Amino acid sequence: MRAKLIAGNWKMHLTLAGATALVEEFLGSYRPKPDVDVVVCPGFVALSKVRSLIKDTPLKLGGQDVFWEEEGAFTGKVSPAMLADVGADYCIVGHSEARGRFGGGQVDPNLLPFFVETHESLHQKIEALLYRAITPILCIGETLAERDAGRADAVVEQQIRGTLQGLEPSALFGVVLAYEPVWAIGTGKVCEAEEAGRMCGIVRETLRDLSDDDVATTARILYGGSLKPDNAYAVFQQPDVDGGLVGGASLNAASFAQIVHAA
Ligand code: 13P
Repeated sequence: MRAKLIAGNWKMHLTLAGATALVEEFLGSYRPKPDVDVVVCPGFVALSKVRSLIKDTPLKLGGQDVFWEEEGAFTGKVSPAMLADVGADYCIVGHSEARGRFGGGQVDPNLLPFFVETHESLHQKIEALLYRAITPILCIGETLAERDAGRADAVVEQQIRGTLQGLEPSALFGVVLAYEPVWAIGTGKVCEAEEAGRMCGIVRETLRDLSDDDVATTARILYGGSLKPDNAYAVFQQPDVDGGLVGGASLNAASFAQIVHAA
């Protein structure tokens, strides 16, 4: 059986003081379970602090993005070696907000060219993370326009194939994918549990086709998008949903603890 995985993506929130308060409050109510892994993904500047706060606990640490080179003249970038050095176990790759795909339309469209990812850049990031034994959490998901056009399944399949093709099954073993419909992120519109389960099933079958049965059966596939304590349980009941990637609700210790409990 696959252990569940709940990851909190703090996005561009929290100072060091805020991060400390959140982790301390969460740890006050967190009751570890052997079959539920919990990961927190702070902003880069808080990684080291959070690592020290969780060092004697089962909590795991994740980055929110990475660059694929190990080191060099790449101003502003963070390498897999740096993430490994700070003790990151996981790293989010290809989040829709890093791809310039926003559910709530908060960003001036003129600024969208600043948010660029391609299948190639994501492929390179994943290879570089695997080299450092950091587990990638690859995010995929369709926009509302793509869903309305009946293209949700095809978009998700294409994102997975475009990014992961060419990677050996042995490299993909243990990989995590997060199905995050863009229209559900930060909008309060949660995907119906059955539909989230169906889409995660498509993710798993695509992975099976790209690699092999072992990879597909062991891969953890998460749902993300407006997960809250009151909808998490139904989503986690779906056979192909192995947990959640939680945004807003992970910034509140009590809500995050309830979502972990639901798993
Ligand atoms: P929300 O939970 O705030 O909708 O964000 C989901 C998400 O983007 C997690 O990566």
